[in-house]
Formats: sequence, C-alpha cells, structure tokens
Amino acid sequence: MVKISPSILSADFSKLGEEVVAIDKAGADYIHIDIMDGSFVPNITIGPAVVKALRPYSKKIFDVHLMINDAGKFVNDFANAGADIISVHVEKELHLDRILSKIKDMGKKSGVVLNPSTNEETIKYVLDKIDLILVMSVNPGFGGQSFIPSSIEKIKNIKKMIGKRPIEIEVDGGINDVTGFECIKAGADVLVAGNYIFKDGNYSANIKKLKGLV
Ligand code: DX5
Ligand code: ZN
Repeated sequence: MVKISPSILSADFSKLGEEVVAIDKAGADYIHIDIMDGSFVPNITIGPAVVKALRPYSKKIFDVHLMINDAGKFVNDFANAGADIISVHVEKELHLDRILSKIKDMGKKSGVVLNPSTNEETIKYVLDKIDLILVMSVNPGFGGQSFIPSSIEKIKNIKKMIGKRPIEIEVDGGINDVTGFECIKAGADVLVAGNYIFKDGNYSANIKKLKGLV
C-alpha cells in the first residue's frame, strides 16, 4: 500500500506540535518537514531547532526535505535534531556522493530530490547510496501549487532505472486523489501531500482517501 507523508508546511504553525500529533493519529506513515532558506527557494520556513522541538510529539518517520543552498553544512544538525530521512536536492550538490555517504554514516536514510526540470540521469551513479528518490511535481517553495504532468514520465523512468534496488519513490507537490492515483500507477511508493490533507481539517478522511487509491 502507498505510504502517506503529510507536509506540515500546510499545518497551523502556531501549534505545530499538536498538528504533528493529529496527523500521526490520522494515519500518516511519515511526517514531511520542508526546510527552506529563502535562497535556494523563495520562501523561509524552519530549522533544526524546530525539528528537535517536534521530535517528542511523534514516533513516526521524520522525512526532512532540505531546500537549502548549503545542505552539507547542516546535515549533522538535522540528524541530531531527530530526522530519519534526510533528502537533498541534486541541483545544489557538486559532491552528491559525499553528502549521501555523510547522511548514511550518521545512521540516517538518504534521499535525493529532483526539481521538475532536473533529469533523473543525474542520480544514475549514486543509486547504491540512496534510500529514497523525491520527485518534485511542482517547483519547490510553496504549498498549494498545481501538479506538473511531466512528473509521471519521470516516475516511470526512475522506476525502470532503480530495478530491484530497495529505493522508495516519493512524489511531492500538487498531490490530490487524481494526481496521486496517476503517481501510484507510474510507480510511486510515498505521496507527500500538504494542502490536500490539511485543507478542511479532516486529516484522517483525507489520508484514507489517498491510501485507498489502489
Ligand atoms: C513544496 C514542498 C511541498 C509542499 C507540498 O516546496 O516541498 O512539500 O508542502 O504542498 P502541496 O501538497 O500543497 O502541493
Ligand atoms: Zn517537500
């Protein structure tokens, strides 16, 4: 069954702890935490101190998506704050192989993120160091954007490329019951959803709808 990783970017930031408890109880598999630095993306969110503060609120997997320029400098901080999966954008990593090793050496799962315009071939030679591939189906920076259709072809290509390797394919941006279904059919294992899950307060029903797509 597909896993669901609600993005707390769409949660009420004045009560993030309670929101994490609520999505945990509602059936989230992972908790997706978007880290933005106002430079790699045109928005700023939270840093390791907030991840650390949220850690006691849930035992679920903290799926940390770094949208920052100097990820290598901060990987330790996010690992120590309680991240379980740390994903870095390939567009900013000259030494992707090195940073993936660093994440693995800290006992964390490593993820790579591809922007909508980034070719999946860029990760071909580091596949054996990757636990998760995050396909951005919107341009990163904001919740509530529309799904970019070419993401489906990319998911299919990645599925073929990874073969039997134990790598999860996660999709992030514009996920709803229609786009989510297309992603699952193409080979996605994990759906990130912000707006779709948080929009009306019915977290449990919305997570169930996404899980019930196949
Ligand atoms: C965008 C973030 C996403 C975002 C998804 O930069 O990486 O995780 O929260 O939000 P929705 O599901 O609303 O598109
Ligand atoms: Zn994200």
